[in-house]
Amino acid sequence: MAVSIQHANEAKSNADRELAAHFEPKSLRTFTPTQAVLAKSAGVYHWTPEGRKLFDFSSGVLVANLGHNPSAWMQKFAGYMGWSDTPWRGRDEYFSGLPLTAYNALTPIETQASRRLAELLQSRPGGNRLQHVMWAASGSEAIQKALWAAMARDRSRDMIVATRFGFHGKKGLAGAVTGSEIDRERDPRVRFIGFPMKECADVSMRDQPFDPEPYRLELDALKHQFGRKLNVLITEPYIGGGGSYHPHKPYLQTLQKFCRDNDIVFILDEVQSNFGRTGDMFAFETYGLEPDIVVLGKGLGNGVPVAAAVGLTSLFGSLDYGEGSDTWSANPLCCAAVLATLDEFARGNVLENCRRSSAILERGLVKLKELPFVAQVRGEKGGMVWGVEMRDHAGKSAADWANAVVLTCYRGEGNLGIHLLGPLAKKVVRIAPPLVITEAEAQQAMELMYRVLAVCV
Ligand SMILES: Cc1ncc(COP(=O)(O)O)c(C=O)c1O
Repeated sequence: MAVSIQHANEAKSNADRELAAHFEPKSLRTFTPTQAVLAKSAGVYHWTPEGRKLFDFSSGVLVANLGHNPSAWMQKFAGYMGWSDTPWRGRDEYFSGLPLTAYNALTPIETQASRRLAELLQSRPGGNRLQHVMWAASGSEAIQKALWAAMARDRSRDMIVATRFGFHGKKGLAGAVTGSEIDRERDPRVRFIGFPMKECADVSMRDQPFDPEPYRLELDALKHQFGRKLNVLITEPYIGGGGSYHPHKPYLQTLQKFCRDNDIVFILDEVQSNFGRTGDMFAFETYGLEPDIVVLGKGLGNGVPVAAAVGLTSLFGSLDYGEGSDTWSANPLCCAAVLATLDEFARGNVLENCRRSSAILERGLVKLKELPFVAQVRGEKGGMVWGVEMRDHAGKSAADWANAVVLTCYRGEGNLGIHLLGPLAKKVVRIAPPLVITEAEAQQAMELMYRVLAVCV
């Protein structure tokens, strides 16, 4: 019988935790010592079944960029689906509206979503190659489809270059390009190159000079070894799941130049970074890149599971009928969610708010370095995703401290806490609230975080 996580004074939550342990495999989640039960949510907050209020510092997993249940988004979403609360006159046990599934057919919201997404991407600096939208139901599926498209342009060139310690998903080719060669038996088509983790280990290193030459030499060595077999290179703009490392621009620009010089497809995995996480709508703007394919997900649907690979028409044109199809891709619910998300970003001040609150969060996180178990803080200036790395201290390992931070923040003070996910790379706590967190909320959350962590030493 699986043992569930339990917390004192949480009878209702504990009952749900027990049910989950009974009926669901533990592999469904990554380990998070809190195992929070979320009874309701609004904006940047969750409430537990016991009525405790939690700042959401995870946004799901960088999904709810616009916050939870934003009213304008929800209304738009329902509006795009054509939902009304009056029954269809033909048979009143049905409503009329768009179908929940439209496999192999088209809905007008699908074509609208494809057009608006492609037009938005193309309107941003560096987005002019982003022409065709290949929908998918999850980030890893979209990664797989992007790689399939690149490989299909010339099937004799079957080698993929990936940046080491990235995270692109667990399934299929997305899993094959995740991590590094030491992880497990690798797909022989994939070769990994270094990512400058040491050079961007802390926000204080942001303005230090950076030399991309060692990375260029690594790429040249691969070229020397494999020549025209190299077909495609995939990287995240910043390492997300691997511990939040945000590189200097010349690193990514060196990768892109290598691709251009050698007719290699350059795929930028923006599943995590898209829709504002770097303080710009897309990370390719932040880093001055022009990808051949950009992969989107997470924030694209603000909670509805949707992803897409968007890139050169010529690349996606190398896949034939059916090669990119599946049950859920371009599902009407997904397209309605994407349109509502596009509307909300077009309407307003999400990014301006993000940059303002970012400064407050960054200041608060850097202050945490006063605590003896906090080693480093990483993140983008103006962005809304940071990693706080712990160190060994007072006989406890960095990993123990990271878990203690997650638990301590959850317990918070009285009725208010902070919801965090289990550590990345064992010892990095990720801070990623919705982009709509106000300056006052950011300030309050950071003061709370400092106070509760200062007494857990
Ligand atoms: C950069 C990146 N790529 C791909 C994925 C995989 O997305 P999904 O979990 O939707 O398959 C993730 C998920 O965390 C991600 O962060």
